[in-house]
Amino acid sequence: MAADKQSSWSYTEGLPEEDDVLLRARDRSHELGVTPVSPGVGAALTVLAAGSKAQTAVEVGAGAGVSGVCLLRGLGRSAVLTTIDSDVDHLRTAREAYAEAGIPANRTRTISGRAADVLPRLTDAAYDLVFIDADKPNLPLYVDQAIRLLKPGGMLIVNDALDADRVAEPAVREASTNTLRQVGRTVREHEKLLSALLPTGSGLLLAVKRQA
Ligand SMILES: C[S@@+](CC[C@H](N)C(=O)[O-])C[C@H]1O[C@@H](n2cnc3c(N)ncnc32)[C@H](O)[C@@H]1O
Repeated sequence: MAADKQSSWSYTEGLPEEDDVLLRARDRSHELGVTPVSPGVGAALTVLAAGSKAQTAVEVGAGAGVSGVCLLRGLGRSAVLTTIDSDVDHLRTAREAYAEAGIPANRTRTISGRAADVLPRLTDAAYDLVFIDADKPNLPLYVDQAIRLLKPGGMLIVNDALDADRVAEPAVREASTNTLRQVGRTVREHEKLLSALLPTGSGLLLAVKRQA
């Protein structure tokens, strides 16, 4: 008999074999009360970063560095990850994870501050990849900013796009769930974007900015 969807999800999430660097970063995430990306999302980030051949990437929500290490492992050797977090302890812990992963310090730019203040200061059409994993109430603003920041052909990735399985459940009308439904619709209908929603982790929304 075929496995059900839940078994297939558990199977795929159990496939990535994370090394000590990622496992320690996960431990530190939990100590800080931060939810890191799932192993399936981490593996997807590495593959997407590698496939995109991005040289410049932005992350909103460094946490303790799990997603950053996954992105940096996919990005090219000269690529730079700009990562933003409002919590200085989280950023310090993320830097620890990057160092443990052997990432040279000049490949990361850590910016402490609220993303709503920091993103508008970044340059238009200067980034190949934007990954968003923080602060759901402001997600529509971050997505608007991401579209501005991306070069044509650049990729947007939004984590937790199914809001822990609540988006697909019409009876759930919580604010965060509605926000993610709205963001999903905006991205799907945006004339400049090609998009896909994957059920990996708690949902990974992907979009590529069309070439002009
Ligand atoms: C879900 S965690 C990120 C986990 C990380 N991406 C990982 O996989 O390891 C969300 C992070 O966003 C940060 N954050 C929350 N609100 C923020 C805001 N308004 N601007 C920037 N960072 C914010 C939190 O401090 C936290 O570290």
